[in-house]
Amino acid sequence: MNTNTEAIRAENLTKIFKTRRSEVVALENVNLSVKDGEFLCLLGPSGCGKSTLLRILAGLEKQTYGKVYLKAKNTEKPLTAVVFQGDSIFPWMKVIDNVEYGLRIRGVPARERREIALKYLKLMGLEKFADLYPPQLSGGMKQRINVARAFASDPEILLMDEPFGALDEQNRLILQQELLRIWEGSGKTTVFITHSIDEALLLGDRIVVMTAQPGRIKAILDVGMERPRDILSIKSSPKFVKLYREIWEYLREEVLKARNFTGSGGK
Ligand SMILES: Nc1ncnc2c1ncn2[C@@H]1O[C@H](COP(=O)(O)OP(=O)(O)OP(=O)(O)O)[C@@H](O)[C@H]1O
Ligand SMILES: [Mg+2]
Repeated sequence: MNTNTEAIRAENLTKIFKTRRSEVVALENVNLSVKDGEFLCLLGPSGCGKSTLLRILAGLEKQTYGKVYLKAKNTEKPLTAVVFQGDSIFPWMKVIDNVEYGLRIRGVPARERREIALKYLKLMGLEKFADLYPPQLSGGMKQRINVARAFASDPEILLMDEPFGALDEQNRLILQQELLRIWEGSGKTTVFITHSIDEALLLGDRIVVMTAQPGRIKAILDVGMERPRDILSIKSSPKFVKLYREIWEYLREEVLKARNFTGSGGK
């Protein structure tokens, strides 16, 4: 691993899930290098192993073969923080306590952690809701809390698994813009899973397209758009359209393969 420029390196990662009756090869020989401070997006058909890869990077799942290296610059900070697919905040904790959670686990003093949590709630436009409980909030607000919580815990590496997947388009646009702003100020190495080509192009420095199961790397594309980014001007640029087409060509093949594989195709 080149510790000057790389934050994550995966070598020949293979993950096989064994059940009593069958084996699923979720990942096969995945080689990936994520640069320090890079925003990397992962795209691929459903079931291709994106979440499995993220869980391995987070240390929540063990690969069957291969190696993962993560660079820790500062041992005081958590190495990774994960924003999971769907809703993962604690409904019984106030919004502010949810955002403070990671800091509390790490033993950050009460006053300091409140300050940090409030800063990220503010950045996400949620400071008015600090004392409410999650069931009192909309889906979009809950996802904002998720993002605020991940940033507040100040990890070396942020891992996000379709954090905006369940949102309506308008809320998604707002959150994408907010994420861009908060991320661009942080310089954090980020791996972000999405099903949306748009989203990958708006947010990512590079995009990794994965194959249908078993998940391998099919293509890696450089987005090469300037930062700070403005979502609307990016969407109307010719570069966006060109990259969108290119990625769709790669993805289409794999989505069709995945449909045939699960037997749901042909309609
Ligand atoms: N704990 C597990 N036990 C057995 N099989 C699993 C397990 N977790 C995942 N799999 C299988 O591994 C494959 C990859 O799953 P994974 O959740 O990583 O896909 P994904 O790309 O994140 O899909 P989606 O886009 O739908 O979220 C799937 O076939 C899935 O059924
Ligand atoms: Mg997934």
